[in-house]
Amino acid sequence: MRLILLGPPGSGKGTQGAWLSSRYGIPAISTGDILREAVRQGTELGKKAKRYMDAGELVPDEVIIGLIEERLSEPDCAKGFILDGFPRTVPQAEALEELMNRRGWPLDAVLSLEVPDDEIVQRSVNRRVCEKCGRVFNLLTDPPPPDGKCPVCGGRIIQRDDDNEETVRARLRVYNEQTAPLKEYYEKRGKLIRVDGVGSIEEVRSRIEAALKQVAE
Ligand code: AP5
Repeated sequence: MRLILLGPPGSGKGTQGAWLSSRYGIPAISTGDILREAVRQGTELGKKAKRYMDAGELVPDEVIIGLIEERLSEPDCAKGFILDGFPRTVPQAEALEELMNRRGWPLDAVLSLEVPDDEIVQRSVNRRVCEKCGRVFNLLTDPPPPDGKCPVCGGRIIQRDDDNEETVRARLRVYNEQTAPLKEYYEKRGKLIRVDGVGSIEEVRSRIEAALKQVAE
């Protein structure tokens, strides 16, 4: 299975990607997580990416395309993968298409999670994440334990630097201008499946399951 999860910031790509990864036994690859880890480790990539991320802007295409080419060359991607947060621009989508054609990898589907802007802001400002393993929580719908420690790995639970309202609104603007056009790109290729992303995490998961049954048939 080779899937792309498309959707505005905070639409649930990471949440649903984690479940899809265990369901299909393939990696969920989040360019945002890779960049945040690079920032945490203070690598050259992290230094370059941080100022874009803090402003809610996209990291330049050439940086991201190189990073994803490297990640998709790893052996765990041979059987399939779920891409969360990539591609985000038409040049990124073209580079991915070229890479997948070169390797003879068909794309199964692009799931577009549809969530209105006001709910996006609510979800994002209330999100908390484990600094170590990336487990996602939400103060309103899935609160972290009161001791502030991740129940999975014991890591510290924090708020992402870009999860304040001003930056979330900037990320939404960037999404609408640069990423939303990818819906048309994949619709033309017959790959786009729109999924209503409003409702409980389980309800959205069931809609995704139903959509993917059609793909597998
Ligand atoms: P990235 O980390 O990819 O951020 P994003 O796309 O903005 O997406 P998020 O991680 O914010 O949200 P999500 O959709 O995964 O939602 P989640 O499941 O956590 O990118 C960060 C930055 O890195 C970018 O701004 C950019 O600078 C850079 N970058 C990354 N990729 C790039 C690329 N390809 N090109 C250029 N730059 C790139 O859910 C959100 C919250 O809602 C959680 O608290 C969750 O618990 C809750 N929730 C989830 N589902 C539900 C539900 N159904 N009901 C209620 N609450 C829910």
